[in-house]
Amino acid sequence: MLPSLFIITVPSDLDDPTYYKLLNLLPDDRVDRIKKFHFRRNALQSLCGELISRIRLAELLGIDMASVEIQRDEFGKPHCVNSCNLYFNVAHSGDLVAAAFDNKVVGVDIENMRNTDLAIADRFFTKNESAALKAKPEADQRDFFFKLWTLKESFIKAEGKGLSIPLDSFEFDIDNEDNVYFTSLSNERHRTYRFRHYKTQPGYNCALCSESGNFPQDIIRLGFDYFLTRIVHSGA
Ligand SMILES: CC(C)(COP(=O)(O)OP(=O)(O)OC[C@H]1O[C@@H](n2cnc3c(N)ncnc32)[C@H](O)[C@@H]1OP(=O)(O)O)[C@@H](O)C(=O)NCCC(=O)NCCS
Repeated sequence: MLPSLFIITVPSDLDDPTYYKLLNLLPDDRVDRIKKFHFRRNALQSLCGELISRIRLAELLGIDMASVEIQRDEFGKPHCVNSCNLYFNVAHSGDLVAAAFDNKVVGVDIENMRNTDLAIADRFFTKNESAALKAKPEADQRDFFFKLWTLKESFIKAEGKGLSIPLDSFEFDIDNEDNVYFTSLSNERHRTYRFRHYKTQPGYNCALCSESGNFPQDIIRLGFDYFLTRIVHSGA
């Protein structure tokens, strides 16, 4: 199976009939969770992630979308119950949802490079990472900050244990060619991964953590109308 990376643009709103039609394709626990979001934007991000996961897993497995079973472990990481060698991970930020699929473990993160105060770097990054950030010309610092951030998050998401993995227990180095070097600073055992950045859209940073080390060459970009054509208008 070829690894794939999807980027979906989320609409800022959706009419109620279409929203509920899409929502009703999901199992009850997901519907309940998504309905609890205060802002429709957050609900749509989560809905998009869920739909692309189920559509793609169904395609890869050659089954109906309704037969795809996704379970979440004690840390909330979703996995596909139908196959033990099909892995995926989802992230959302701003207008975008990223979803990665592979036959080995993957972690993905996407971040809207909003107006974050870069001074928080010292709280999240190791001394070496913070020093590398400060050594960058000021104009490049925001991009570098979010490169490090998405890389760290993609590793945490591949491992699947959330922030029980201390952020200072591993670090990244990124050279001028954008090659990524990972160093574990703890004795904890973990899988061996490779990392890559993707340019998804101006203003965003996206990183993929891959156990297979096989990276999708191209991003598959989809608009929200993909779901409408594929599901709502087909009458599925
Ligand atoms: C649970 C966690 C994944 C939340 O991350 P987040 O940035 O809020 O959310 P993202 O958009 O990246 O990903 C959300 C998706 O990840 C998936 N997910 C949930 N728990 C997960 C876990 N333990 N491992 C991997 N993926 C997980 C789900 O598909 C989720 O989508 P849903 O909320 O619609 O169900 C967790 O990694 C976390 O809290 N990270 C800390 C964030 C941080 O401080 N990072 C600092 C980096 S320097």
